Amino acid sequence: MQRFNEVVDNIINQVKATSNDWVWSYHKSPDDLRHNRVKVIQEFLSDYETGKKSNRYAVGELPKLAYDHQQFDIALCSHLLFLYSDHLDYDFHLNSVGEMLRIAKEIRIFPLITLMWKHSQHLDEIVQYYTSKGYKIDIEKVEYELQPGGNKMLKITRDVI
Ligand SMILES: C[S@@+](CC[C@H](N)C(=O)[O-])C[C@H]1O[C@@H](n2cnc3c(N)ncnc32)[C@H](O)[C@@H]1O
Repeated sequence: MQRFNEVVDNIINQVKATSNDWVWSYHKSPDDLRHNRVKVIQEFLSDYETGKKSNRYAVGELPKLAYDHQQFDIALCSHLLFLYSDHLDYDFHLNSVGEMLRIAKEIRIFPLITLMWKHSQHLDEIVQYYTSKGYKIDIEKVEYELQPGGNKMLKITRDVI
């Protein structure tokens, strides 16, 4: 909460200064974005201690996760893979997607553009690689869009044993 409070005004002010560059559909305005973020962090923190006790929150770091083979039905990655394509290389993406597919039957990654709002330079090769391995790949449009063009999700299903 302390860290959130330290940075939130600065971030929202940057968004306000560039407000025409963002899509105001789910979040209606920079102030609505702030309001929604405050709500979310409060909800998260009010659940955190209980969640930790029941092992719903655990620390981990891609590209290696301490979970069993196919332990989950679904694994989600939001605003890390593809978004940070200019900072995280192709091998990191390949290994991370591979690790998510190891632990879950289906994985979903969002968004598919970079911080510079460009199509990720790793996406096509990752799609090609997993298609050639027999996985089912879908790129689906989603309702949520804040970065212009950031409204697509990659879904990979583990059809192979
Ligand atoms: C832009 S934030 C997105 C947070 C949240 N998933 C969301 O969508 O609002 C990127 C997150 O990725 C986490 N992260 C950075 N490197 C990681 C790694 N190697 N494995 C897993 N998470 C990582 C950071 O700690 C940070 O919380």
